[in-house]
Amino acid sequence: MVLSASVLTILLPLLCASSARPQAGDFCFHINGTASHTGMDKMEDTWRVEGSLADTALLPCKLPMALSAPADDEQLRVKWTRVEAGTEKVVLVAQGGAVKVGQDFMGRVSLPSDAPEMGEAALAVTGLRASDAGRYKCEVTRGMEDRRSSAILSVRGVVFHYRANTSRYSLDFSAAAEACLSVDAAIATPEQLTAAFHDGLDHCDAGWLADRSVRYPITQPRPGCEGDLKSRPGVRTYGIRLATEKYDVFCYVEKLDGEVFYPPSISDKLTLQEAAAECRKHDAVLASPGQLFAAWAAGLNQCDYGWLSDGSVRYPINAPWPQCGGGQLGVRTLYKYENQTGYPDPEDRHGAYCFKGQHFTSFNSPTDVTFSLDAHFCVFEVVIRCVTSGEHFCFVKS
Ligand SMILES: *[C@@H]1O[C@H](CO)[C@@H](O)[C@H](O)[C@H]1NC(C)=O
Ligand SMILES: *[C@@H]1O[C@H](CO)[C@@H](O)[C@H](O)[C@H]1NC(C)=O
Ligand SMILES: *[C@@H]1O[C@H](CO)[C@@H](O)[C@H](O)[C@H]1NC(C)=O
Repeated sequence: MVLSASVLTILLPLLCASSARPQAGDFCFHINGTASHTGMDKMEDTWRVEGSLADTALLPCKLPMALSAPADDEQLRVKWTRVEAGTEKVVLVAQGGAVKVGQDFMGRVSLPSDAPEMGEAALAVTGLRASDAGRYKCEVTRGMEDRRSSAILSVRGVVFHYRANTSRYSLDFSAAAEACLSVDAAIATPEQLTAAFHDGLDHCDAGWLADRSVRYPITQPRPGCEGDLKSRPGVRTYGIRLATEKYDVFCYVEKLDGEVFYPPSISDKLTLQEAAAECRKHDAVLASPGQLFAAWAAGLNQCDYGWLSDGSVRYPINAPWPQCGGGQLGVRTLYKYENQTGYPDPEDRHGAYCFKGQHFTSFNSPTDVTFSLDAHFCVFEVVIRCVTSGEHFCFVKS
């Protein structure tokens, strides 16, 4: 069987009209997305929702017919909670026009009335943060009747600080945007930087953002990093700047279209050129910083410095090991000088991070795949059966 990866991309031409195989009652559709075949969450009324950092996600919650009632029904109570470490924390409670919101979600959640397809009790979460990911429960009660459902929210996207190989503050606005593109990312927006700040990003280096403003996020205020906020945590801003001024940049990467790995075959450390050759041996290329940060956000944890495609040397840490990154989570960067500038000499010896793009996955035998169908912010889950017979095709199991 070839379904070894936990995530695969299905790009299958579907032959609905011409094929007799889909059974009556099945429906065919084009599949163009990412499927996860985890086999979990088969329980009824669990929705999967995916959103991007700083965007809005809509968590569905539908009332059964018996509970459908005018919105001003005094008896109707909607309660959204979030499951954290086994306990449920209140996100929002609404009854008879009164709404109570939990601390972490102040100003960011509402029950929108303009999305009837998501259900009368759907929850909108704005300014999405990576830390919002998790399981949410919706409970609708009226009198003696009640109904529950849940939604699993995932948030993609990560913001990172980027410094050119030359020096600190060496990028004008257009070079900053190009620098992000050259490492498979995009220049971040102020909203994305703010969301990343709430997730704990702390950098005492000013960087360009997409609106031509220059800012930096500080979660732990300290001398030299006061900016316009003095001793308060927050995103410091220099305002909108002249495009010719020079700073670092904050980049944003949405997701990883493939796999980043540290080749287990590396025993002796490598020069930059040898590292590139090592990746080619694995039918891969040196990963870019954007790809490494996306892989870190997806959980990559490796305590070895490795070369990347831009000549920088970094490693991703997701487990707080004292001997590795000093117990701090994040991607560590190795600079040439103590003042955190310059990339290492290409003849220095380190490991390597390689990137392999997603390949077409074929199915050797009928295979059930839980497939997420993305519509707006909502991901609907269906189980499809994929078979190979000359053509690959999938259909929804009845
Ligand atoms: C699949 O996605 C690609 C790129 O996003 C697009 O160009 C193509 O038209 C899509 N195909 C179908 C059948 O939707
Ligand atoms: C710095 O990066 C630029 C491109 O981003 C590259 O052309 C140049 O060779 C690099 N310089 C050093 C010293 O690595
Ligand atoms: C950092 O240190 C290097 C080497 O000591 C020096 O050449 C460079 O000017 C310094 N850069 C900054 C921004 O202080």
